[in-house]
Amino acid sequence: MSEKKILRQKMLKELSLLSNLDRKKVEAGQQKQLFTTPVFQNAATIGITISTEIEWDTYPIIEKAWKEGKVIASPKCIVKTKEMYYYAWNQQNQIQNGYAGIKEPIPEKTKQIPSSDIDLLIVPGVIFDRYGYRIGYGGGYYDRMLADYAGVTISLCSERQLVQQIPRENYDLSVQQIITEERIIHTSEQNI
Ligand SMILES: Nc1ncnc2c1ncn2[C@@H]1O[C@H](COP(=O)(O)OP(=O)(O)O)[C@@H](O)[C@H]1O
Ligand SMILES: [Mg+2]
Repeated sequence: MSEKKILRQKMLKELSLLSNLDRKKVEAGQQKQLFTTPVFQNAATIGITISTEIEWDTYPIIEKAWKEGKVIASPKCIVKTKEMYYYAWNQQNQIQNGYAGIKEPIPEKTKQIPSSDIDLLIVPGVIFDRYGYRIGYGGGYYDRMLADYAGVTISLCSERQLVQQIPRENYDLSVQQIITEERIIHTSEQNI
């Protein structure tokens, strides 16, 4: 098994053991900080996944964005090509269970949003380093997506998901900011 795969499984196990209270504390901290960032406040369109049980809750972020008149675009995965397309949605009946039990927008009921229209992209991941490199869920979906995305990228995680350095493959791409329950890390300001 690859080193990344071992680290990913170990962290997913660790995260699954967190109590509900601990999860809520982390999520509250992440949201508080995210909402203070100029990039969140100024974003007209935000690309964000609809979180599953094992991920940090994105619903409060989605709700806050809607309340502020922002457009929420969520990804639909194309399993064959490992590509993602984003669609704007604002009602529960526009989403359904898709790839790996992840809720996705229904293309027929929503409008496709080109990645060039996404001002802020929230990038999920399992482990991060201070340079913004990440271990995702193993599909490489975001490495492909980020290859031609020019907007701002932010990942949400907990302090326990940060490590010194992640093994990098040449196709791996980093995120610009990492927000934990405690702080905002501007990864480009870190010395490499
Ligand atoms: N830009 C890309 N083009 C083609 N294949 C890619 C690209 N980025 C990643 N991949 C493939 O996706 C797979 C998963 O990538 P990996 O970095 O291990 O997963 P993750 O980023 O989800 O943790 C790798 O086998 C890699 O070959
Ligand atoms: Mg990768």
